[in-house]
Amino acid sequence: MPHFLDIHKTDPTDLRGIIDTAAAMKSARTGKPKGTRDADQPLSGQMVALIFEKPSTRTRISFDVGVRQMGGETMVLSGKDMQLGHGETIADTARVLSRYVDLIMIRTFEEQTLLEMAEYATVPVINGLTDRTHPCQIMADILTFEEHNGPIKGKKVVWSGDGNNVFASFAHAAKQFDFDLTFTGPEPLQPETALDGLYTTERDPAKAVEGADLVVTDTWVSMHDPQSARERRHNQLRGYQVNQGLMDRAKPDALFMHCLPAHRDDEATSEVMDGPNSVIWDEAENRLHAQKAIMRFCLGV
Ligand code: CP
Ligand code: NVA
Repeated sequence: MPHFLDIHKTDPTDLRGIIDTAAAMKSARTGKPKGTRDADQPLSGQMVALIFEKPSTRTRISFDVGVRQMGGETMVLSGKDMQLGHGETIADTARVLSRYVDLIMIRTFEEQTLLEMAEYATVPVINGLTDRTHPCQIMADILTFEEHNGPIKGKKVVWSGDGNNVFASFAHAAKQFDFDLTFTGPEPLQPETALDGLYTTERDPAKAVEGADLVVTDTWVSMHDPQSARERRHNQLRGYQVNQGLMDRAKPDALFMHCLPAHRDDEATSEVMDGPNSVIWDEAENRLHAQKAIMRFCLGV
C-alpha cells in the first residue's frame, strides 16, 4: 500500500511510471467533455477523502474531478470542521477514516500531521501540500515540461524567489528525475538546509537564468507565512521578479511555470505569465492528469 508523501520517498521508476500513465490518460481524453468517465473506471467502488486545512482551488477541484472521471466517489472535508488534532489525535482520525474510505488526500500545515496520518492509516495517504513540500504540483510540472520540451533529464531549471515548500519538491525531483536545479533568491529566504546538495545557489538572477530550459517562481508570501512578514518579503524578493528582461536571458525556448495562485506583477509580470513561453494553464490542467496517475499508483489499479 504505497503512500505518496514526497518525491524523494517515491522510487524513481515509480515516479516515471506515474508520469507516463498521466500522459497516456490525458491523451485518451483529448477533446472529450470534462465530465466524461474514463473507459476503464479504475476507481470504481472506491471512496476518497479530500481533507483541507488550508484554502485550495486547483488541488481541491482537480482531485475531485479526477476521482469522478475514474469512477470513484469523493468527500471534500475542511480540516477545521473535523476533530483533526484537537478533538482527537491525528492517529485516531487516521484509524477511523481508514474504516470509511479507500484513499486519503490531505493538505495540512505541519508535515508531522501528514506523517502521522500515513503512519496510522491503513489506506494510502497523498500529500496535497504541507508547509514543507508540494509533491503533486511538481509531478504536474514535470508532465508539463516534457509535453512541451521533451525529457527533463539533464535540463536546467531555475527557481527565482522564495526557497519555499514548492521549491523543496523541485529539489527532491531534481535528484529523482536527474535535472539541474538553480536557486536564485535572497539569503534570508534560502531553502532549508535539509535540501543542501540537491541544487546550486546563484544570488544574481540574471546570471542564474543563463542557459535555463525552465524558469519557475511562486508567491512571495505562502499560506503558512505570517501576513506580518509581507512587506519585508516583498522588499527582499523584488529583485527576483520574473519579468521579460529576465526571461530574455534564458534559452529562447525556455518555459515559464508558476504553480498558482499568482500575485500578478509581484513575483512575475503579466507580460511573462501571459507570454509565449508561459505554460501556466497547461500546468494547472496537468494537476488533474498527474494526480489521477498518482491515485492509481497508490491504489494499485
Ligand atoms: N497550486 C495549487 O496547489 O493551487 P491551490 O492552492 O489552488 O490548490
Ligand atoms: N507556496 C504556496 C503554494 C500554494 C499552492 C503556499 O504554500 O501557499
